[in-house]
Amino acid sequence: MPAIVIVGAQWGDEGKGKATDQLGNRVDYVVKFNGGNNAGHTVVVGGDKYALHLLPSGILTPAVTPVIGNGVVVDLAVLFDEVDGLEARGVDTSRLVLSANAHLIAPYNCVLDKVTERFLGSRRIGTTGRGIGPTYADKMNRVGIRVQDLFDEKILLQKVEGALELKNQVLTKVYNRRMVDPGEVVDELLGFVDRVRPMVADTSLLLERALDAGQTVLLEGGQATLLDVDHGTYPFVTSSSATTGGACTGSGIAPTRIDRVVAILKAYTTRVGEGPFPTELHDAAGEHLRKTGWEYGTTTGRPRRCGWFDAVIGRYAARVNGVTDFVLTKLDVLTGLERVPVCVGYDVGGVRHDEMPMTQTDFHHATPIYEHLPGWWEDISGVRSFDDLPANAQAYVRTVEGMIGARISVVGVGPDRDESVVLHDLI
Ligand code: GDP
Ligand code: IMO
Ligand code: MG
Repeated sequence: MPAIVIVGAQWGDEGKGKATDQLGNRVDYVVKFNGGNNAGHTVVVGGDKYALHLLPSGILTPAVTPVIGNGVVVDLAVLFDEVDGLEARGVDTSRLVLSANAHLIAPYNCVLDKVTERFLGSRRIGTTGRGIGPTYADKMNRVGIRVQDLFDEKILLQKVEGALELKNQVLTKVYNRRMVDPGEVVDELLGFVDRVRPMVADTSLLLERALDAGQTVLLEGGQATLLDVDHGTYPFVTSSSATTGGACTGSGIAPTRIDRVVAILKAYTTRVGEGPFPTELHDAAGEHLRKTGWEYGTTTGRPRRCGWFDAVIGRYAARVNGVTDFVLTKLDVLTGLERVPVCVGYDVGGVRHDEMPMTQTDFHHATPIYEHLPGWWEDISGVRSFDDLPANAQAYVRTVEGMIGARISVVGVGPDRDESVVLHDLI
């Protein structure tokens, strides 16, 4: 049985949570492989809304084992808040498994995330302020704290002291902040150890055995292709690998185990935070998409920047992720437009680009070249079969599909678990 990857195709918030939740009853494991509580997934089940940040979206399906993989950065206070919040609503979280190799977001990294952003001023990234960048930086600098360090108090103190040696200099001398006491950090982290212990495992081994036993593993990406630290719009990205490659390194599952890559693609484009965005709308049309699509961040509540669909990005996502299937979400939000613009290429200084420009400078200066497709007026939220979509909505899906290099297998027509049109089963 296979491993299946779900990734975001654009700048996040495409509806990965809903897609993962929808597949819940066909998979045995759902593994979050990157990011942390910078993610925000809204999942709607029978009208009940759940906002998930750190927990894999499979948590809402009773038979699924949710796994937080080694590639994730974990804020333990947030983890247990989320667990308690779900338990209070009757969701059983007892199956949750946490990788011993996942890195912990220490409180000083949340402070550093916020003060660095302030320090950057107009050059800021617009991060979520959750300590993500500094924690991944510590991982790469080899001064990170891992889940397994909680089980060796002496090592934990040594590591926290080591990490703070330089950080305390920076916090006090550069940012004019108070010194952080390593002992306090250790006490705070150890306060979680009894709750953490039963959920920790060698998750790479666990998943390998599950695959060998014929079970299905779904690898759920946070963030998205253009926020990927290697393949995104650097430096306006997150600090993890949000593309398919990250699914392997962030879970310990080998590439040869993966047989499907599903990219979630919104029928228009949104972005939170700073950075280039060629099809961004600054007019009433952008406001219309924001209002109709309810484009406000699940994590920070920030209004999302909105723009038309960009086929160049779709093609790029297909290429760097090896996409086998696209899920086109929020088609219902485009209902009621006379004509729907679709970006088919960029003009950069008089030169046409059909693929992502090689340099960020060119991407910053890309002007979209639009094709205008005819719109539709009918309410499509109740449609469950492709043939029942209005002819122009069908044409929109087929035209976009022709531009992005992989088939569209599911079309989203509303936020609820059931509000989708399935053209090809994903599993
Ligand atoms: P994620 O981070 O990729 O999981 O996406 P978010 O949850 O941050 O944002 C997607 C939003 O769109 C959520 O509020 C979903 O409930 C909602 N959503 C997902 N699919 C659809 C769809 O097909 N139609 C509509 N109207 N809303 C959708
Ligand atoms: P989901 O999983 C949209 C953006 C932030 C910022 C940049 C870096 O819900 O799609 P970070 O805090 O990660 O260092 O911020 O990345 N960002 C997201 N934007 N959806 C997300 O997650 C995001 N996670 C991070 O807004 O621009
Ligand atoms: Mg989101």
